Amino acid sequence: MNYNFDRVIDRRGTGSLKWEYGAIAHGADDLLPMWVADMDFEVASPIVEAIVSRARHPLYGYTLWKDSYYDAVVQWMKRRFDWDVAKDWIVYSPGIVPAVNLAVQAFTRPGDRVVIQPPVYYPFANAVLNNGRQLVNNPLVLAGDRYRMNFDQLEEVIDSRTKMMILCSPHNPVGRVWEPEELLRLAEICRKKNLIVVADEIHGDLVMRGHRHTPLAALAPEMKDMIVTCTAPSKTFNLAGLQAANIMIANEEMRERYIVASRNCGVWLGNIFGLEALTAAYSRCEDWLEQLLDYLGGNDQFFRRFMADHLPAARVLPLEGTYLAWMDFRAFGYSDDELDELLLNKAKVWLDRGTLFGGPSSGFQRINIACPRSLLQEGLERIVGCLGGADVRN
Ligand SMILES: Cc1ncc(COP(=O)(O)O)c(C=O)c1O
Repeated sequence: MNYNFDRVIDRRGTGSLKWEYGAIAHGADDLLPMWVADMDFEVASPIVEAIVSRARHPLYGYTLWKDSYYDAVVQWMKRRFDWDVAKDWIVYSPGIVPAVNLAVQAFTRPGDRVVIQPPVYYPFANAVLNNGRQLVNNPLVLAGDRYRMNFDQLEEVIDSRTKMMILCSPHNPVGRVWEPEELLRLAEICRKKNLIVVADEIHGDLVMRGHRHTPLAALAPEMKDMIVTCTAPSKTFNLAGLQAANIMIANEEMRERYIVASRNCGVWLGNIFGLEALTAAYSRCEDWLEQLLDYLGGNDQFFRRFMADHLPAARVLPLEGTYLAWMDFRAFGYSDDELDELLLNKAKVWLDRGTLFGGPSSGFQRINIACPRSLLQEGLERIVGCLGGADVRN
């Protein structure tokens, strides 16, 4: 079946965070939302059918996970990544942010140190700080137009109180799909220093053609007892409102500790429709994903060409994975507040400001390009219309 990713669907009135939160956060309901990681594409039809079919059974009580859920996850990981996951390792979670918080609670103690590599998805820092742990930053380094992990510094910042690293792979917001050599080096350091790695691989299915995501646990099987892998169909198939994610923990004792933490917080049971959607997505929607990846690749090319032609001073970093592009506006010389003010109030486009992600991110903005191309073009025209006449330092 062919899916039409060009179709613009009005999402206002559905309670969409992406489209309706602007009125609350910024007091403006005319912003073009290109911020949160949520796509403006209708989902694959087998997902809708699975939800409708379950909805017809008129009982919606507390729900366990069926074998079909586990089979769908195991087979997806094998087919897409050649990763052998045992059914026992899989723990359902309503989301990855709760899972990262639970992992911090289950595997570290108050006062322990947890490493992240900013600029990175900001709930990582919150999960460390809000749980009373110490945040250790090992900032990424921008070399040319590619971000790299700083391994030498990583070895230096890890001390005896450092117990965990939270890895983002592929990396939101800088768009890197880490190479196997980079992941192996990271795994080696973490193993030597006895660090548990929480690998947030939510964007693992969303890699641009020519790149390949490798699950850390598949690459470093000797370390599998120290890795907590977080995956989900929520970004891949645009199901974030259905709250279903998979946490893979090979080590039995760790898994038990994680499950106890999730039961204590009351977040262990399944979301009925999330489980149906997840199972349908992983078992019957691979063709939709392949078409999506082609469309996103087309959007990325369009975006790069448009910016190079109309606003070359805004540097667009290469997008290897995710649909969140990282843009460098430093040449304009604006402060982050000035840039936000211009984009929000003049261009009427809502991007995520770089400094949200920590580390050396001042002057950057993150833009979500997962929308019909006509909307992408409208957003880019608004940005160019607003910044096109600005003075540029170099
Ligand atoms: C790296 C990363 N992890 C987790 C999430 C959100 O996960 P969830 O909605 O399952 O909590 C996002 C959403 O943008 C993300 O980019």
